[in-house]
Amino acid sequence: MTTAKPVLCVGCTVIDFVTINESFPTEDTDRRCLDGYWQRGGNASNVSTVLRLLGANVEFFGMLSKSNGFRVLLDDLDRRGIGTQHCPKTEKDPPFSSVIIVKETGSRTIVHCNKNYPYITYEDFMKIDLDRYGWVHFEARHAHETIKMIKAVREHNRIHGSSIRISLDFETMFEKNLPLCGLCNYVVFSSELAKQQGWKSPRETCYALASSVKPTCPSIICPWGSTGAACLDTAVNEFTNVAALKPDRIVDTLGAGDSFMAGFIYATYVMQSSLPDAVGFANRVAGHKITDFGYDHIAGLQKDDKFTTD
Ligand SMILES: *[C@@H]1O[C@H](CO)[C@@H](O)[C@H](O)[C@H]1NC(C)=O
Ligand SMILES: *[C@@H]1O[C@H](CO)[C@@H](O)[C@H](O)[C@H]1NC(C)=O
Ligand SMILES: *[C@@H]1O[C@H](CO)[C@@H](O)[C@H](O)[C@H]1NC(C)=O
Repeated sequence: MTTAKPVLCVGCTVIDFVTINESFPTEDTDRRCLDGYWQRGGNASNVSTVLRLLGANVEFFGMLSKSNGFRVLLDDLDRRGIGTQHCPKTEKDPPFSSVIIVKETGSRTIVHCNKNYPYITYEDFMKIDLDRYGWVHFEARHAHETIKMIKAVREHNRIHGSSIRISLDFETMFEKNLPLCGLCNYVVFSSELAKQQGWKSPRETCYALASSVKPTCPSIICPWGSTGAACLDTAVNEFTNVAALKPDRIVDTLGAGDSFMAGFIYATYVMQSSLPDAVGFANRVAGHKITDFGYDHIAGLQKDDKFTTD
């Protein structure tokens, strides 16, 4: 167990209803499936889970619901030792996602049902004492509120001479979320979004993103599916490609990206790894994640293994 100050993960937590079947259902039929379960999802919520399993102190900060149906999420967060004591609560029913996994093809079809569930605001965020944390992680969403929260962390650092680090998970809405990047220390940028921008490789993505970010450029990390990930340390203009680890089997890829994110934060913050080494560790955590269902097996990952970068 580490004595570092907790990591605060800001974002969403939702219920995922997962249905597993051999084939995809036909519209307007009434059929049984092979298996199914419901679990806690949401990107920041998943990052919290994996950070905790790796041994970090973690708090989640997002809108919780007072509805009975939400109880299962709260119990899971509690059971795992993920702090939620500073989260605001709403009377509204929680958001949920319906996931259909087809066993044969491994495809996953996801429908999000959010019903205008409220997102945490800058005012909510200002009620917490930032001095408690050593790292704050944000999802790139609700840019209008998120930018104010990020600025508040920077302002806190400036006034108190502290050095809380800020990371951003950037996967959607390029134009809207781009202004957040220049205020963070680390941006993890998705390959999907890179492809939408017409950027064809991790190298092109790192340099193209770096040239669009103002006022100061963060370190950029770009996971690129099964080929691995790349990173650009903009302070010294050093680009590194880090090969993926080939897992011996692929069982469940849901949450692999969130596991990468958590692995990166853990290596950088707790293990104090260099940027390329942290990306190597993030690859290992993501590669290990997909060898089994859920996340619990991540607790068994050897953290002190040598990992190499090219
Ligand atoms: C599950 O797969 C079986 C076999 O392909 C199919 O007969 C059945 O209709 C499917 N059930 C659903 C809910 O899609
Ligand atoms: C989070 O983790 C859950 C549980 O593994 C998974 O169902 C979900 O797809 C993951 N990602 C998101 C965005 O919820
Ligand atoms: C959450 O993660 C999933 C899987 O990586 C991704 O498709 C989705 O865009 C993410 N959501 C946000 C708001 O970043």
